[in-house]
Amino acid sequence: MQHLLSLFDISESDLKQILATASHLKSGLARGERPPVLERRVLALLFEKPSLRTRVSFETGIAQLGGSSLFLGEDVGWGTRESPADFTQVLGQFVDAVVCRTKQHERATQLASFNAMPVINGLTDLCHPCQALADVLTIREAFGTEVGKHVVFVGDGNNVSGSLALISAMLGMKFTLACPEGYQLDSSWLEQVIQRYPEASIEQTSDVTTAVKTADAIYTDVWTSMGQEEETAIRKKAFADYQVNSELMAEAPEHARILHCLPAVRGEEITDEVIDSDQSDVIAQAGNRMHAQKGLLVWLLNRKWVDENIQVIT
Ligand code: CP
Ligand code: NVA
Repeated sequence: MQHLLSLFDISESDLKQILATASHLKSGLARGERPPVLERRVLALLFEKPSLRTRVSFETGIAQLGGSSLFLGEDVGWGTRESPADFTQVLGQFVDAVVCRTKQHERATQLASFNAMPVINGLTDLCHPCQALADVLTIREAFGTEVGKHVVFVGDGNNVSGSLALISAMLGMKFTLACPEGYQLDSSWLEQVIQRYPEASIEQTSDVTTAVKTADAIYTDVWTSMGQEEETAIRKKAFADYQVNSELMAEAPEHARILHCLPAVRGEEITDEVIDSDQSDVIAQAGNRMHAQKGLLVWLLNRKWVDENIQVIT
């Protein structure tokens, strides 16, 4: 059974098909088209952490495709009320797929292990694959192609930057993480990326000023992710020189676009002036969450339609 626990679960050609499906559905929607290609399909959202974008974009996305969704919060008792096997196999009797947002990545892996329904990672501590799909759509729209573009992530080696590093490797983007010592990408994640994509251009540096000089896109995220709240003070100190502000933007090429997965802590990792500037694509990027995930859902649940209707131009 096909899951999307991370982008390691799919090939580059799968990824290109998902992105092409997303773009096709997005341009159709702009013409008022809402093809019911997932009619009567039901998507569950099983979330252990808060969410605006991921939750709403999946719920609206499946609705536009003729399906429906169920939001399942803590009251369903996942991991507390019955065994994981009973919980998951029962859920699989009712729904066509589940999006989960979990504190530990292993919880998502366990959910998928029963093969009761396709499991989509809607963010874990390890990675955020759906965010990366929308990020690439946004970069593609800004430049016409993502290939060869240099994405500089200023901030933490976290779930968002890890997925961005992987998708960059899959699609031929150059990726640099500019971060303080001790906040690099998870080393075993990076090893897996390099093992699978030995040609990948991935760098990590503490020299943020030099890193942004060749950036096509400058991306940032919160310094303290959900679940790390007790480290807030330490992280504020560690990342103090890694704010995306006008001074840093003055070092970057004029064409560089600004990205942020949101939610942002304005005044910490990014200033109002930069996030609200003409160079910023963050609102369009958030909007692309829905388009990207519609592509993913159709690819997962109606591959026949994708094969018959979507042409991947490489
Ligand atoms: N970017 C993102 O995943 O946002 P939410 O936490 O609001 O879903
Ligand atoms: N790195 C952030 C992303 C939120 C969308 C977190 O995990 O909280």
